[in-house]
Amino acid sequence: MKSTNEVVARCEAGEISPPMALMELLMLTPDADVVGALVDELGRRSEGAAAMSDLFHEQEGGCRRIADMLNAGVDRPPQGATVEEGVAFCRTLFDWSVTQSEAASVALYSLGSPELLLAATNEIVELLRGYGLLNPQTRVLDLGCGIGRMESALAAQVQHIHGVDVSGEMVAAARRRTAGLSNVSVALSSGLDLQPLRDSSFDLMLAVDSFPYVMQAGWELAVAMFREAARVLRPGGELLILSFSYRGNREQDQKDARALADESGFELLVNGALPFRVWNGEVYRMRRGELQSARHALSSRR
Ligand SMILES: C[S@@+](CC[C@H](N)C(=O)[O-])C[C@H]1O[C@@H](n2cnc3c(N)ncnc32)[C@H](O)[C@@H]1O
Repeated sequence: MKSTNEVVARCEAGEISPPMALMELLMLTPDADVVGALVDELGRRSEGAAAMSDLFHEQEGGCRRIADMLNAGVDRPPQGATVEEGVAFCRTLFDWSVTQSEAASVALYSLGSPELLLAATNEIVELLRGYGLLNPQTRVLDLGCGIGRMESALAAQVQHIHGVDVSGEMVAAARRRTAGLSNVSVALSSGLDLQPLRDSSFDLMLAVDSFPYVMQAGWELAVAMFREAARVLRPGGELLILSFSYRGNREQDQKDARALADESGFELLVNGALPFRVWNGEVYRMRRGELQSARHALSSRR
């Protein structure tokens, strides 16, 4: 368990952004008055401290909302639950959180601010562009699409983007946000697989901060989702997982990503890089191998 001093020190050292630091402080002490007093007490002793204090006052309403959301106590996953129960927990959690704040429901560190969320989204779009993954032919699948922020941000740059989510309220929010974008579709999913999507029908599959919930529901679901990703991606298609788990153990996440990639025939291209400034999401980039596709073609012919 991190302490408030550690969070402050990481922000002052530039390891995490001021919004991430405020989110972590609120998670440690879900009381906006206490967090406000702490960042005020730090004064302007460093650039990081000043940025935290300025941001707190700019987004005070959002910080109070985040504290209320955390105090509601709905984000604690059931212990010893089955995969189905784990997925049902996610559905209830996100059905509720999107009614509290759309921006905060997909990224607590946005502190409920659409502008902060957009800054983080733009960094993800830049990463995808830098990887050469965005072009007018690209068909994208977005696992756990939430409110549809990636769909809105990517629609103009790809052929089609299809979002799936286990939460009906998230699906409704994503449909509202993307209404009028003819190359966006959004569907409710069981959370257990990628049915009814067809084999080899996507070039790119994204999981932006949704894979931690798959991991939380159980290793069995993580294996199933990787196999499904290998099924719905075309040979050479890519799977991009941004944030793997919430265990706080990057080494274990890297090992698990490698094991899952190996098991389902993905070549692991990037294993846990930290390229973002606003969000501290780690990047896991994989490419579906040709061998795996051949194996899959043979098994589906049998
Ligand atoms: C933190 S939000 C991120 C949403 C979106 N990717 C974004 O970054 O804006 C996580 C989302 O994953 C969805 N989710 C969690 N487990 C899922 C599963 N097994 N299948 C599909 N969606 C899932 C949740 O309902 C929620 O909308």
